[in-house]
Amino acid sequence: MNALAEKLTTLKKEKDAVIMAHFYQENDIREVADFVGDSFELARRARDAGQSVIILCGVRFMAESAKILNPGKTVYLPAADAGCPMADMITKKDVLELRQKYKDAAVVCYVNSSAAVKAVSDICCTSSSAVNIVRSLPEKRIIFIPDQNLGAYVAAAAPEKEIILFSGFCPIHHRVLAEDVKKAEKARPGAVLAVHPECRPEVLEYADYIGSTAGILDHVRQSDALEFLIGTENGVLEILQKELPHKRFYPLASDFICPDMKKTKLEDILQCLKGERSPVELSEEELTGAAKSLERMVAGK
Ligand code: 13P
Ligand code: SF4
Repeated sequence: MNALAEKLTTLKKEKDAVIMAHFYQENDIREVADFVGDSFELARRARDAGQSVIILCGVRFMAESAKILNPGKTVYLPAADAGCPMADMITKKDVLELRQKYKDAAVVCYVNSSAAVKAVSDICCTSSSAVNIVRSLPEKRIIFIPDQNLGAYVAAAAPEKEIILFSGFCPIHHRVLAEDVKKAEKARPGAVLAVHPECRPEVLEYADYIGSTAGILDHVRQSDALEFLIGTENGVLEILQKELPHKRFYPLASDFICPDMKKTKLEDILQCLKGERSPVELSEEELTGAAKSLERMVAGK
């Protein structure tokens, strides 16, 4: 651990802070974190955090979710400009228009969305809980926002529902095409293909396993196979290669990197701990509206 990382470890205790990081963060950030997880676990841990300060190393919607689930705490997003382009593809106005058009439908909102969008949705989900949450609702018609690919995956897994899709997508996962899979499989014949459901349906068709980042990690840990093609951000591949050096991991695309997730620097965390940054602030309307749909998500997995 370098001097700065050691300083952070001491300072976080003094300031009664907890550092949480998403799997896609850089290795030095994951190393100083008290907890590294997927979106669902980050939300759950943030809700249950006992410390008075939460430092969420990820993108904006993750830090907003932490604030919404634990509004009495001071929450920092160390890389203040780290956003999720998919979350920015839908607005509150879009959701209200869909509600007007499909009056009998429930709105299920992927957690990769703004607080304002969550506030006008019925329930949130993560990639690990989307299918179960959609299935658990009494409504037959579901408006699934904003990810068209996760929505299509849910529609296939829950044929008893009528899923209305929105046009959002993750620019990183959506970039991978069926041709890339064919190329990767040709180069690594027999490798197990584990893919995140934010990838296109034509890519998911080839997958041996489909799941969230945490799901992919667990699947690989439990598998007897020795070679894997990883269909999600390279941070997951790095974690696996470090943890399981006797196995081999290959990316599905060479540039499978989320630039926003790589924005966090140790120096940013230091400034948050010193109180030199502005914590996450949300309006009362966003806090109360989004709390309802997020709490349903965390309780309902
Ligand atoms: P997880 O819910 O699997 O952590 O994924 C979050 C995300 O942003 C995927 O791109
Ligand atoms: Fe958003 Fe995609 Fe980055 Fe995940 S990988 S945070 S969905 S842009």
